[in-house]
Amino acid sequence: MARAEIFGKSSARMKFTYAVGATPIDPDEAAGLIPSHIATQSDLNIWEEANILQGAAWAQRQKKRELLDEGFVRELHKRMFNRTWRWAGTFRASNKNIGVDWAHVSVRLNNLLANTQYQISHAIFTADELAVRFHHQLVWIHPFPNGNGRHARLLADTLAVRLGRKRFSWGANSSSTVSELRQQYLQALRSADTGEYEQLIEFARC
Ligand SMILES: Nc1ncnc2c1ncn2[C@@H]1O[C@H](COP(=O)(O)OP(=O)(O)O)[C@@H](O)[C@H]1O
Ligand SMILES: [Mg+2]
Repeated sequence: MARAEIFGKSSARMKFTYAVGATPIDPDEAAGLIPSHIATQSDLNIWEEANILQGAAWAQRQKKRELLDEGFVRELHKRMFNRTWRWAGTFRASNKNIGVDWAHVSVRLNNLLANTQYQISHAIFTADELAVRFHHQLVWIHPFPNGNGRHARLLADTLAVRLGRKRFSWGANSSSTVSELRQQYLQALRSADTGEYEQLIEFARC
């Protein structure tokens, strides 16, 4: 695990311990942390989890609204992280070790949304393959400073449900440990980076 120390605006010190394959956030972005009581990564995880549940409940209530729309994509991120980060729902303004150049996020996202709409209307892929491809390309674009994995998984789940499928499990039914699952997920994403989606489709339903 890589470690980074980030100093917030109030010089309150917060240590972030990053999971493998997680995107480090830069100091400006870390200064956007809303709750003041958070001192450790585990406090942050618990806080984020509660916020994300609110975002998931909101997404479930959006039965009619167009999903494949920039406004929806941003609002979902906002609803998942609005009590955690001031920049929730706002695109990146810096480059990361993954993701497109930050200045291209909006254009690339809108291309992805339009392509996915086209794939749905022309039944190019099965529902699962379509939603998994969408997930991978969304995390590859990496629109936000943080939370891209969780946001893109929830959005893929919401899309799958709209297409008449169940939510994905993302490994939840497997007997592997959390860290093994993380490795399997990242391995499947790297395979998807080369255009091979089978592993990721299988992982999403195991
Ligand atoms: N090689 C890769 N190709 C595509 N997506 C990747 C790759 N490596 C990591 N990711 C995605 O980036 C996410 C990490 O980004 P991050 O913004 O920190 O999301 P989160 O905070 O929800 O984990 C991973 O969960 C994964 O979805
Ligand atoms: Mg992260």
